Amino acid sequence: MKKPEIMPSILNANFLTLNQDLKTLKENGIKWIHYDVMDYDFVPNLTFGAKILGDILKKYDFKTDIHFMVKVKTKPFSAFFEDFIKLKPTMMTMHLEAMNPTETLEFIKLCHQNKIEASLAIKPQTPIVALEPYLGMVDNVLVMTVNPGFGGQAFLDDSAKKIGELKTLAKNHNWKYTVSVDGGINKDTLTIVNNEGVDKVVIGSYLFANPNGIGPTLEVIND
Ligand code: DX5
Ligand code: ZN
Repeated sequence: MKKPEIMPSILNANFLTLNQDLKTLKENGIKWIHYDVMDYDFVPNLTFGAKILGDILKKYDFKTDIHFMVKVKTKPFSAFFEDFIKLKPTMMTMHLEAMNPTETLEFIKLCHQNKIEASLAIKPQTPIVALEPYLGMVDNVLVMTVNPGFGGQAFLDDSAKKIGELKTLAKNHNWKYTVSVDGGINKDTLTIVNNEGVDKVVIGSYLFANPNGIGPTLEVIND
């Protein structure tokens, strides 16, 4: 079975040692980072704008998946994303639940106009059927296996089943999207999502809050 790509989420990183941690990720062949943007509205937590990611990308050439857990209130809708688009992320992920159908189509178009992969995320309680109008257009679907907002929560097994279902749908319709997963991933739950055929795996606290350190933890994951 092909190994999924690892996307470390820096949400629970220690920002005083982040530079060393990013260096360790690079030394261990990690290609991606996952950057969680929260607005204290769509989720009950608040994180970062584009500045910190800009600083990281000036020094390290990671592929970037920006995971927006926000309700966009700017007019036009696209204005919210401008500073992030300037950083040339590889992928931008927006929650289906945070947009109306017009905004969802606009988000996908905005990504593609800027040569950014368009990704839609769904919360644990959102069924796959809600995504269906967009599955032929998106580059990735992010299956949340925790309720978005915080790192360190327990993995929800039921949500993980959506990964395999989405992979089967893609195969049957010849749709091209990949499937990523986010929330509660550790060595054991990694096996579960792997068996579902996941392409990309977000890992937050298991890497950044692990007493064994990032390098040794990655070795365990890659075993
Ligand atoms: C949570 C974020 C995640 C978070 C995952 O809403 O989207 O990316 O960092 O952290 P863990 O891996 O600890 O669940
Ligand atoms: Zn995330």
